[in-house]
Amino acid sequence: MILDIVILAAGKGTRMKSNLPKVLHNIAGKSMLSHVVDTANQLACDKLHIVTGHGSKEVIKAFSHNDVNFIQQAQQLGTGHAVQQCLEYLKDDSITLILYGDVPLIKTTTLQNLLSNVSNKSMGLLTVEMQNPTGYGRIVRDEKGTVQNITEQKDANEKELAIREVNTGILAVKTEHLQEWLPKLSKDNAQGEYYLTDIIAMAVADDIEVVTQQPDKSWEVIGVNNRVQQAQLERIYQQQLSEKLMEQGVSLLDPNRFDCRGELSCGNDVVIDINCIFEGTNQLGNGVVIGPNCTIKNATIADNTCVHANSVIEDTIVGSDCLIGPFARLRPGTVLKNSAKIGNFVETKKALIGQGSKINHLSYIGDAQLGEDVNVGAGTITCNYDGVNKHQTTIGDNVFVGSNSSLVAPLTIGSGATIGAGSTVNKNVDDNALTLTRSPQKTIKTWKRPVKITQ
Ligand code: UD1
Ligand code: CA
Repeated sequence: MILDIVILAAGKGTRMKSNLPKVLHNIAGKSMLSHVVDTANQLACDKLHIVTGHGSKEVIKAFSHNDVNFIQQAQQLGTGHAVQQCLEYLKDDSITLILYGDVPLIKTTTLQNLLSNVSNKSMGLLTVEMQNPTGYGRIVRDEKGTVQNITEQKDANEKELAIREVNTGILAVKTEHLQEWLPKLSKDNAQGEYYLTDIIAMAVADDIEVVTQQPDKSWEVIGVNNRVQQAQLERIYQQQLSEKLMEQGVSLLDPNRFDCRGELSCGNDVVIDINCIFEGTNQLGNGVVIGPNCTIKNATIADNTCVHANSVIEDTIVGSDCLIGPFARLRPGTVLKNSAKIGNFVETKKALIGQGSKINHLSYIGDAQLGEDVNVGAGTITCNYDGVNKHQTTIGDNVFVGSNSSLVAPLTIGSGATIGAGSTVNKNVDDNALTLTRSPQKTIKTWKRPVKITQ
């Protein structure tokens, strides 16, 4: 089977009230059009055609890395007109599948079923039953239940308006049939548009059977016209994802307060508390516990590590049995070896933290490499930036850094060294020694506190 897929995406999306073209608005951190493109690519299509109009420059720019044939529809004269613009690019012997850039949750399996209904003597049409069909094209059937045509809301009579089965817009048909029917479309209708839906009556006239099929889930065919619908689809998407995760053995303490904008894979017995956001590609090992309100982006976290509340982790690799947070911030390039501990109000960046090392409170560790079992006291800062360049700090195994130390990079601290609290260290430190920079403590016994002057 040769498959051409056409995605209609020329509409303005007025009701989004946005400068961004509608199809570039996100569901789960990915543009609606990307969702449709990804689904299309799962169908092994030979060519993907995207019809653009409003905001076409931005749409083309957003998808320039894909192998897509962009087709300009300068004026939006209707869905039929949009597909007409594609005709010259479709292969004579292919099947054409019509999708919509603002219907992002359509499933591959539904489309595969639809495609299986297409032959020289038949076409596939995806329909859905709606409680309130207002605005949609109605599926008109004869007394035997055979589809006769689609009547748009604005062209419908009373009897047709009562029909609850509506057109989703998604259909699949032999391209040679489109080549025959599309040139015959007229705009002699209530909206003065070329309706793609008029090909249904043409199919009936040509004895091509219209095989209807409903999607597995009705949300697959919901289109987004405004931000309320966008938010609804976002929740549906998150619900699907959270159910899948729970089936795989993940505990979500409240699936309604879970957001994944990307890929999340989890081992067994992972627990994720409320209001966490996962972005990009994340991997959690067995027994990982994520506390509430964490944001985690492109992280790998190994078995039995616990991330406490309100931590932010990005582009980081975490070993097993680590403790992180609450209120930790692991910035890009952080690597925690097994059993490392990062406590509250600690920020790391491009930092390798060795096995069993601890940075428990109020520190900044950047451009640094720490050995095993290092203890970094509260308030320790790697002074990695001289205002122009970044410099590296290297700390050996078993080093003890006293609280409130400033480690001025470039700097190497030998294994087993101890840094006295409050030191500013800017020269390399030998193994095992005590180093401190501290002005001697003075006591002035005769000193008196000033007293308040009274007038
Ligand atoms: C269309 C269908 C209707 C169906 C409904 C489902 C027609 C005539 N009607 O109606 O039967 O129930 O979708 O949502 O097909 N578009 C273009 N170029 C155009 C016109 C539209 O690219 O010239 C794109 C829009 O961006 C949009 C889609 O096609 O993504 C649907 O267009 P819209 O005007 O919303 O059609 P409806 O009136 O909703
Ligand atoms: Ca619409």
